[in-house]
Amino acid sequence: MSAGEDSLGAPGVLGETEPKFHVVETEDEMGRPAKGLARAVSNNTSDDSVRPVLVDFLSGKMRHRLRPGADHEFLVKAIGLKKSDRVEASGRPVLVCDFTAGLGTDAFLMAQAGFQVVAFERDPLVYALLLDGLKRYRAHESELGLMPIGLEFRQADVALTDVAQRKALAERLELDFGRRPYAVVLDPMFEEGNTKTKSKPKKEMATFREMLHPSSESELRCLLETALQVGERRVLVKRPVGALPISGDIRPLNRREAKTAAYDVYACREV
Ligand SMILES: C[S@@+](CC[C@H](N)C(=O)[O-])C[C@H]1O[C@@H](n2cnc3c(N)ncnc32)[C@H](O)[C@@H]1O
Repeated sequence: MSAGEDSLGAPGVLGETEPKFHVVETEDEMGRPAKGLARAVSNNTSDDSVRPVLVDFLSGKMRHRLRPGADHEFLVKAIGLKKSDRVEASGRPVLVCDFTAGLGTDAFLMAQAGFQVVAFERDPLVYALLLDGLKRYRAHESELGLMPIGLEFRQADVALTDVAQRKALAERLELDFGRRPYAVVLDPMFEEGNTKTKSKPKKEMATFREMLHPSSESELRCLLETALQVGERRVLVKRPVGALPISGDIRPLNRREAKTAAYDVYACREV
């Protein structure tokens, strides 16, 4: 497989500084051209034994998951607003923020549940997959004449963890959306072994996990502080079942726990 536009450098064997992953041209389940994340073997070839990871909001798995609607989703329930309350008196959908977009599943499900969602991702390759996945979903929406869901992705780099940028981020969101996010969601990468899940991630997801570094506790605290200042009412932090809340002085109001994941729910404070 040849690497696509986002791989770097001249052909040849990877050196120590060369990227281990790159974005390649592939296909989604429906055979439409898509961008995928693959492990690099050399500067212009990828490991063909593992399917590239891609963002596919139209996959059979996602369609099956959404068959009963998004209201039964654990995250949607944990936000704590019933469907009729997800629309403001002015008719605008309630805004929520996802600070750790990843492959966009949570953001997409929240948008399907009727929220206006803005989701941040710091990794530039993962961000490229998100834009590509959303573009394919938008094409599907317009082909079928569906009502567009309220979803957008933004690249975060250090914006969410740089204390000096906190206020500017809150102001930017207020300027762009005319309101603060009712809730902010965090689903960081956990250290291996910090989860009780016995099943191994699929090969493709193992590639994804390998590429992204787990967040340190101090980074998590910083992300939580930013979320609490940006959000209006709630911050939800996904934790492995049985794991302690993020360490430090800020304590969650409560914990919502399901079989495979838990959300610590925090109350926001005034900026
Ligand atoms: C476990 S994944 C999230 C999965 C996501 N909830 C989903 O539904 O696909 C964590 C993601 O958060 C991103 N991330 C971690 N720290 C971040 C930060 N400070 N700013 C923005 N994104 C961050 C990582 O790059 C990674 O893609």
